[in-house]
Amino acid sequence: MRIVVLVSGSGSNLQAVIDAADADELAVEIAAVGSDAPGCGGLAKAGAAGIPTFTVPLEKGATPNRRAAWNRELAASVSRHSPDLVVTSGFMRILSAEFLSTVGVPVINTHPALLPSFPGAHGVRDALAHGVKVTGCTVHQTDAGVDTGPILAQAAVPVSEDDDEASLHERIKVQERRLLLETLAKLAAGELTLR
Ligand code: GRF
Repeated sequence: MRIVVLVSGSGSNLQAVIDAADADELAVEIAAVGSDAPGCGGLAKAGAAGIPTFTVPLEKGATPNRRAAWNRELAASVSRHSPDLVVTSGFMRILSAEFLSTVGVPVINTHPALLPSFPGAHGVRDALAHGVKVTGCTVHQTDAGVDTGPILAQAAVPVSEDDDEASLHERIKVQERRLLLETLAKLAAGELTLR
């Protein structure tokens, strides 16, 4: 199964996929890694692993027209690598309906909260602020909404009294990596199919 991974941040989830594929524990070929954030850690990790990378930056405060053009450019860059699946993990941009239909293959996303609770860019912070005692992570198929697509897998993570956003996020990310690898393995084995 050929995948393109999109990242904006440090790329620890990406690294877990790279390591599992390298160790032949996952029947996945990472065709390319793309980003909106030049110089982010995820691009460096891909480069170090010899994986082709591409960057399609988007300025702050971009107009709707500019965002539409950016989505088209990103879709073209992704499609060049002919993936069977696109994985967004720590990719902090919203993909348009046009992106999804142009790419024409399923997109899955990891989110550091138990959707449908706490969607958006600050899932860990929002869960803490709400005072929940259990949060977690979700792998879901991406649709044109914000973290709204069909849920594929979830794991719960208890919140400790002394957690801050960073400590809680680190524990969530341990589960997030496991869940992402499990979901990719099921997809690669045909045990899970996406429309
Ligand atoms: C993950 O928790 C992801 O769900 C969130 O940002 C984190 C990305 O971490 N949106 P990394 O870049 O994979 O280290």
